[in-house]
Formats: sequence, C-alpha cells, structure tokens
Amino acid sequence: KGGVSHYHLADFNLPSLSPLSTRAIDPRVRFLLCNFCSRAALEAQGSCLNNKYSEGYPGRRYYGGAEVVDQIELLCQKRALESFHLDPDKWGVNVQPYSGSPANFAVYTAVLNPHDRIMGLDLPDGGHLTHGYMSDVKRISATSIYFESMPYKLNTATGLIDYDQMELTARLFRPKLIIAGTSAYARLIDYARIKKLCTEIKAYMLADMAHISGLVAAKAIPSPFEYADLVTSTTHKSLRGARAGLIFYRKGVRSVDKKGKEIMYDLEDKVNFSVFPSLQGGPHNHAIAGVAVALKQAQAPMFKEYIAQVIKNSKSMAEALLSKGYTLVSGGTDNHLVLVDLRPKGMDGARAERVLELVSITANKNTCPGDKSALTPGGLRLGAPALTSRQFKEADFVQVVEFMDEGFKIALDVKKKTAKLQDFKNFLLKDPETVARIANLRHRVEAFARPFPMPGFHDH
Ligand SMILES: *Cc1c(COP(=O)(O)O)cnc(C)c1O
Ligand SMILES: *[C@@H]1O[C@H](CO)[C@@H](O)[C@H](O)[C@H]1NC(C)=O
Repeated sequence: KGGVSHYHLADFNLPSLSPLSTRAIDPRVRFLLCNFCSRAALEAQGSCLNNKYSEGYPGRRYYGGAEVVDQIELLCQKRALESFHLDPDKWGVNVQPYSGSPANFAVYTAVLNPHDRIMGLDLPDGGHLTHGYMSDVKRISATSIYFESMPYKLNTATGLIDYDQMELTARLFRPKLIIAGTSAYARLIDYARIKKLCTEIKAYMLADMAHISGLVAAKAIPSPFEYADLVTSTTHKSLRGARAGLIFYRKGVRSVDKKGKEIMYDLEDKVNFSVFPSLQGGPHNHAIAGVAVALKQAQAPMFKEYIAQVIKNSKSMAEALLSKGYTLVSGGTDNHLVLVDLRPKGMDGARAERVLELVSITANKNTCPGDKSALTPGGLRLGAPALTSRQFKEADFVQVVEFMDEGFKIALDVKKKTAKLQDFKNFLLKDPETVARIANLRHRVEAFARPFPMPGFHDH
C-alpha cells in the first residue's frame, strides 16, 4: 500500500538489469578496472540505511535517531585503519566521501587556499583527471579551475615517472601539495623520493591509491602510508567493495623546529570540516555500510590470495603479450594492469578497442607517452582485478591474449582498407568477410567466458 512495497526491480524495465539479477551470466571478457563487489556488500548498500539522514560525525550529528549509523560509521573507520595496518594514534580516516574524486577535492579544500599550487601526474601520462588536468586551451578538472596545477610526466624513453623532471619543476613551481597516484601506470611509485622532495619544499604529500588499495591492503606492494601525509582511495577498484571514497590523514607530530619544538599535524579537523560541512551533506550510510563489509572481507586470508592471483595474472598477461611481439609501456608490470602500446604494430587504441568490443572483450583505450590525440590514443589499458574475481587464472589470461591478438589482426586488416576512424567503424559492420570473422571470434570468446562465475550473484 502507498505504492512503496508492492513492486520488484524486475517490474521497472531497467535495461538488462532484471535478467542479470536472476540469470547472472556474463559472456564477455571484461578488463574492468573496477570490480565485482560481493553480494554481502551489495546487500548492505541496498539496505534501509539508504533512508537515514545523519549530517555530522558519530556522536555529533545534526539529526536525532542516528545511534545505529554512528556504530556503523565507527566500525567502518576501525576496519579501514585495520585493513591498511595503521596505528590509530598516527592515522585517522574519514569514510564519508561519496567517491574517489570528491575525496580528492576534499583534501585540496582541506589543506589549500584557492589558487594554491599543486602537482600531479598528467592525465595522458596515467594520472587522474582530479590531479589537476587542463588542456592547452581549457581548464578541465575543477582541480585546475580552483587551484593552479603543474603536471609531471613520464619519461618517454622508459615509460617510467620522470622523477628528475618532477624535482626540477617542483623547485621552480613550489607547489603546496604533490600527488603520488595513478590510474594507468603498471609500475611501483617511488614514494620515498617524492616524500623527500615534499619535505625539501615544505609541501604536503598526498598518495591517491585508488587503483592499488587492494594491493596495499594485501601487502603485495609497498604501502604509501610510510611516507604520505594524506592518503585517498576509492573502495570499488582492486579493494572490491561498494562504490565510495576514503581519506586517511596523519595525526601526531609533523616535524620538529630548530628550537626542538614539536609541530603537530592539524589535518583531522581540516579534513573533517572539508568533507562536512564544506563540500558534502548527509553521508551515504548505505555506502559506508557496504564499505564496512568489504573492508572486513579485505582482511581475510582469502583476499590476500585473491590479490596474489591478480598480480600473477597481470604478469602472465604481460608475458603473453611480449611473447607475441607486443610492446608494453615501461616494458612490463609490477601491479594489477598492463599498458599495451599498439603504435609499433601500426595500430591505435581506439580501433583496437572497437574491434575487441565487437568480439565481447571490453578494454580501455589509453594514451601512451608521446601521444598527440586522446581520441585515437596509441594504447590499451588491461586490468586484471575484475577477471580475477571471476576466477580467471594465468592460463586463462594467455588464452585471452590469443583472442586479443586475433582481434588486433582484424583491426589491422580493416585499417589498411579504410581511412578515417568512422570509415573503419562502418566497415566493421558492413564488410561481409569482416562481419563473419568478428562473429566467429565473438562466439569463441563468449563460449570461453560464459562458464566463469559472476561474483555477487548466488545462482551462477
Ligand atoms: C578512479 C580514480 C579516482 C576517482 O574515483 P571516482 O570514484 O571515479 O570518483 C581518483 N583517483 C584515481 C587515481 C583513480 O584511479
Ligand atoms: C573528525 O571525524 C572523525 C571521524 O568521525 C572523528 O572521530 C573525530 O573526532 C573528528 N575530529 C574532529 C577534530 O572533529
């Protein structure tokens, strides 16, 4: 009665959502960088916690009746600190950011004044939009609109972060904050070196571990917490949780001055105030609950196994690509993803992405060092986390590389016969021989992918 409770999701005709929720089969090979959240975390996210407003922080809310959400938020904080092996005397965490981008903007709002300077890895080099992206003619990210951003870049010869250039630029530009974090980078970050630079120029160091937080939690790669003043993360990528953001901030002594006086961190107040009331309103309690579930899962031995498999799979994929003569940016991988540079093969990411899409392989076109165009960039970004959640193992990734290799060959043949990207796309759908080749490959990809389970759903 009242129109609230008599209907099910299946009654609302959301494209493919109803069939997926009852018949959870994914016939595609998807190199997603986000992940399959667990059923338990999805249930928390779809729970009645959606229905409660609770502006403020535990124990200090602007709304009554928040005892339960207080407990959930405190539990989520506790688990966040535990999951990253942090001492609560040295680190605090804010679990209210709605996602990774708002978490980053909250950090900037906390420690910077308008037009203060920041440095981050440039977007075409593997950074994130929120690290200050602007083009030659336009300030794109709000980070570059409200603050002054200067990028650092990859060394075009090695494909590694150019730390020498970062240091040189930072000494001239004098940023108040340097961001260490990436969205498309297959190597480890030298946090110690960035911290040394930050100390020298008296800048804050923010580590944005959005992509790699699952690997950090599992201690599979070095932790940014050893060096950073602030750490942000998403919770839905390698951490495999509900979609949200986290901000970790240091507490205690920041430095000792010349007279031996201790200077304390004052980040807790600043971050709290920035998230609420400066930027956000009521916390998404359902998301916080979903994150609390996922963080508990991230502490289990099974999660460590999962992350170890992610890295094995990523390396297996890298080796298979190299053995087929493909070029990888930076020459390989230390983490959960590989970046293929298709330019030496006479191919580009946009055409390759489209052909793979038609054969039921989802991948992401990506710029490579030296690329001019973001619309037809030279590379593809291939992440292992989501397929590993579907129980893909090393040999399965080798098989997927075989499929991709076939797809790239179709793309090359069609590229030779067409001019512009749009001609290429039209030809893929019209040329009978190409249509048949694509259908043949797609059938084999789908027959291969279909039996793998889709986590988050009971019935498959
Ligand atoms: C994904 C990502 C973000 C932003 O996360 P959203 O949840 O999409 O806002 C921020 N930083 C990095 C490095 C990311 O990879
Ligand atoms: C900041 O928020 C955290 C998280 O809710 C809380 O534990 C802490 O007491 C707050 N600190 C301040 C200084 O308001």
